[in-house]
Amino acid sequence: MSIAIRYLAEGEAAPLPLLLLADPSEKLVQQYLKSGHCLVAEENGEIVGVIVLVKKASAKMEIINVAVAEACQGKGIGKQLIKRAIQEASQLGAKTLEVGTGNSSIYQLLLYQKCGFRITEVEKDFFIKHYDEPIIENGIPCVDMIRLSMNL
Ligand code: COA
Repeated sequence: MSIAIRYLAEGEAAPLPLLLLADPSEKLVQQYLKSGHCLVAEENGEIVGVIVLVKKASAKMEIINVAVAEACQGKGIGKQLIKRAIQEASQLGAKTLEVGTGNSSIYQLLLYQKCGFRITEVEKDFFIKHYDEPIIENGIPCVDMIRLSMNL
């Protein structure tokens, strides 16, 4: 499959339904889109994936959102978006790139580690504290935030 990854153009709307797949809070999504660097993956002119990088400190960036359209998942697009985000973060001057996911997000944990990230921190009870509804994924309660990072 041939996909092209590019920055969102000036004034172009971000693919909100995709972003909401990874983060159900539209308020938070809109907030980090203002300062974030948004890349999209296109297949035949249609946006099928998105990734957002935000600056956390002078030499530290975070992948704050990554999502692929459900019909296009499992075909390597997520991995291509992450590899491109690693290159872009480095170009933007970051020395460390971070990403976080729930303890129950086992495929995301696979994906990030396959891309070279290592687990650096576990934020206990993060999802209990920050989300109103209990989250169950892959048959496990999602309670802790697993933070991973990589040196660029
Ligand atoms: N079963 C097993 N492994 C899976 C998997 C599945 N259903 N989905 C992903 N993986 C793992 C595999 O290890 C795969 O590596 P491999 O190709 O070497 O086997 C790796 O992830 C990369 O898969 P890829 O096809 O590139 O992922 P994707 O295009 O489906 O994108 C997500 C991955 C997470 C971005 C996508 O599933 C998604 O949008 N999910 C909903 C939003 C979300 O959860 N975002 C992340 C928030 S933390």
